[in-house]
Amino acid sequence: MEKKKVYVTRYFEQDSIDFLRQHFDVEVYEKDEPVPREIFLRKISDADAVMSIPGDKVDAEAMDIGKNVKIFANVAVGYDNMDVAEANKRGVYVTNTPDVLSDTTAELAFALMLGCARRIVDADQYTRDGLFKIWSTKKFLGYDIKGKTVGILGAGRIGKAFAKKCSGFDVKIVYNNRKRDPEFERDLNAEFASFEDLLKNSDFISVHTPLTKETHHLISDHEFDMMKKNAVIINTSRGPVIDEKALVRALKEKKIYGAGLDVYEKEPFFEEELKEFENVILLPHIGSGSFETRRKMAMLAAENIHEVLNGRKPITPIG
Ligand code: DGY
Repeated sequence: MEKKKVYVTRYFEQDSIDFLRQHFDVEVYEKDEPVPREIFLRKISDADAVMSIPGDKVDAEAMDIGKNVKIFANVAVGYDNMDVAEANKRGVYVTNTPDVLSDTTAELAFALMLGCARRIVDADQYTRDGLFKIWSTKKFLGYDIKGKTVGILGAGRIGKAFAKKCSGFDVKIVYNNRKRDPEFERDLNAEFASFEDLLKNSDFISVHTPLTKETHHLISDHEFDMMKKNAVIINTSRGPVIDEKALVRALKEKKIYGAGLDVYEKEPFFEEELKEFENVILLPHIGSGSFETRRKMAMLAAENIHEVLNGRKPITPIG
């Protein structure tokens, strides 16, 4: 019997590909760059399953052309690249990779928080540049974490994992979410706050909401106006949740102290002016980027494909 075809849109750790190859006819777009749309559409036209990444648009056109595709398995927890309603309507499975990356992404958010608070990145650059000549009482002063209020926007899996990292640092944790979570409040001594109160009272604000119509530009000029002057905003979620031009204005006008960003509105592009601020850390979307986690994400996507192509339900369906 002819093997079913799987198209993989990016290089992933070999074990997930080896696993797929044991069962299916697998083609991988090996380059470490986005697969061009025309290649993507051509390759999925006779595929039975697709392993995709956030940059691949899984829309009605892709589902029309990939008419035999039974599952688009995103190697990411975020799925704003996928038209879930369209897939559900057509009975095509779309899946993501929740849980396996929560701690890794939360750790990066935490690293950004510490990095911004203590100016770690620009202080490192200063030292590398040979400028460390005296022990200065003025340079690179930052803010303590201890005793501060950390505001978490979106208390899903990653937001909660981030709160857990914070809990050993003697901070007050406040959160805003669509729904209150009494267990989270009890376990981590987290306090529910209205969106406005969280913005007004937090010293560090970490964004963990998914990107939806409602969260697009959730933070813009009006919201920056409400923040404390020493506030640092961290975003490891999706770029468009923050209005990037408004962020530049807020930093220029010193409405806030700093920002730690792993994601941008128009990735891989970002507002060039962000480079000019010392108290801003810019990372290239590496939230889930640990050896262990990227391997687990790719394996979970591969297992979802394996289940569906064997007539079963996927492990982590969306919708
Ligand atoms: C995700 O899983 O959504 C991440 O952003 C990809 O690293």
